Amino acid sequence: MKLRHYFKKAQKEKWALGQFNFSTLSQLKGILFAAKELNSPIILGTSEGEARFFGLEEIVNLVKFYQRKFKTPIFLNLDHGKDSNLIKKAIDLGYDAVHFDGSELPFKENIKITKKVVKYAKKYGILVEGEVGRISTESSKVYQKKFKIKEADLTKPEDVKIFVKETNVDSLAVSIGTFHGVEITGINPKIQIERLKKIKNRAESAFLVLHGGSGTPGEDIKEAIKFGIVKVNINTELRLAFTNTLKGFFKKNPEEITPYKFLPSVILAVEKVVKEKIKLFRSYNKK
Ligand code: G3H
Ligand code: ZN
Repeated sequence: MKLRHYFKKAQKEKWALGQFNFSTLSQLKGILFAAKELNSPIILGTSEGEARFFGLEEIVNLVKFYQRKFKTPIFLNLDHGKDSNLIKKAIDLGYDAVHFDGSELPFKENIKITKKVVKYAKKYGILVEGEVGRISTESSKVYQKKFKIKEADLTKPEDVKIFVKETNVDSLAVSIGTFHGVEITGINPKIQIERLKKIKNRAESAFLVLHGGSGTPGEDIKEAIKFGIVKVNINTELRLAFTNTLKGFFKKNPEEITPYKFLPSVILAVEKVVKEKIKLFRSYNKK
């Protein structure tokens, strides 16, 4: 089954697919072990940095291997693509979806380039995610203070209708209160459900995507899924699970040098986070 099938099913049944980012084989294994055990379709995400570090060809071939091995629905998305050459390469190599992030561009320019990406991707049946509004910051930060989202970054519902009509994107990243990274206070972010409802009314057939899923309260995510979100992106929490587990391991075992002795705990930590998210998004036990 193709990714579109799962988006439609999720929309109809009110659950969401998780997109989990990775840049190492240990993270990838943790994500896939969780998906396999809970029988959940899953989207693997690679940002430009993650994709360049791992290598696009390596990623595509490894994912194909795991698709055969696990027989669960595993999809691959280029996350926050800004470089047209990299996006083209991902499409040519066999990614299932690409996210063109034109959120830093003027609205008209964003539409123009998104349209070009859609035209190219459609030839291969690859799905394209556009972005209206901006999900600020990076998935590598733990904010020590309360984070305040700029009003200008939030998605304007009236822009959504124009953007979807003009570009014909398959899915749309919306800025409704979340941000990349996590905040130490744990109180933020608060998802703006009223804004989401207005966006949903104007999104036509485009599936809605929530970025900045890390650190977002579960109840907010559940509400967002209820009102039309079909994909939730998670990165920072997986990076934290990976890095904190390693740091903890070496604190206790400073003499250890054998990767196959310290990496299993990392895989397990990633797997645990992904399982919790799959349960929250209710994507388990799906055919
Ligand atoms: O595109 C990736 C996501 O939006 C990840 O956000 O790092 O806050 O989980 P996060
Ligand atoms: Zn994002």
